[in-house]
Amino acid sequence: MKGIVLAGGLGTRLYPLTKITNKHLLPVYDKPMIYYPLQSLVEAGVKDILIVTGGNNAGDFLRLLGNGKEFGLKHLNYTYQEKEGGIAEALGLAEDFTEGEKVVVILGDNIIGQSIKKEVESFAKGKPGAKIFLKKVKNPNQYGVAELDGNKVLHIVEKPKKKIGKDNSGLAVIGLYMYDNSVFNIIKTLKPSSRGELEITDVNNAYLKKNNLSYSVLEGVWLDAGASIESLLEANLLIAKMNSRSKIL
Ligand code: DAU
Repeated sequence: MKGIVLAGGLGTRLYPLTKITNKHLLPVYDKPMIYYPLQSLVEAGVKDILIVTGGNNAGDFLRLLGNGKEFGLKHLNYTYQEKEGGIAEALGLAEDFTEGEKVVVILGDNIIGQSIKKEVESFAKGKPGAKIFLKKVKNPNQYGVAELDGNKVLHIVEKPKKKIGKDNSGLAVIGLYMYDNSVFNIIKTLKPSSRGELEITDVNNAYLKKNNLSYSVLEGVWLDAGASIESLLEANLLIAKMNSRSKIL
């Protein structure tokens, strides 16, 4: 199983903080943001990891992370996304790196406060397909939202304008995805959304259409630290409270 951290994009929602640096290098309490998703993959036993970066100061990732020695890795791989073409476009750049294997993908601004090791191991051994992770949150509509009927995902909508599900019961789709290698063929069929991006939600809906999408609901802490200034502050305060130095996972 190959690991991919997506850390491209311009982070415009965090301007002016991201005017001269990359969003994923901003501090979340005592560590740069990207440390958290990278640590999640490493803790799950993923050894071959690609960082997709882009935008400002991409070279700083090399200076910060080097070959991943600090994380106990032997090497780290990097690639560069030219423009902010969307999460699915960034993932598409990883095709050669994956060499036909399954992939675990994590967004560079997502912080998952629990181990994903068991999930990674069982997906690696399991049937082909895709797996997403859902989380009950107060304001699901600022994320990708999954509408469920019992245990079945009916559809996923990216930042819906209307409430999804009875009593707004839609669950947020967090930035952790597992795919078989057919994901790269799916990405090649995508068209840009109204915001001009290749959407990861369209990838997940393509698997859903083929009846090939499973999910788990996450019980622990999940933070989209890079969504807004407010979420960055919230992430800083929460990690400080959890005392990140004594380990968050
Ligand atoms: O955090 C979870 C949410 O992330 C999901 O619920 C949504 O379905 C998904 O679309 C995404 O929404 P955001 O609007 O929060 O995505 P954002 O533009 O903040 O990008 C998230 C990360 O993806 C970012 O930290 C870096 C990476 N990215 C993003 C873009 C647009 C890239 O590598 N390249 C890109 O072009």
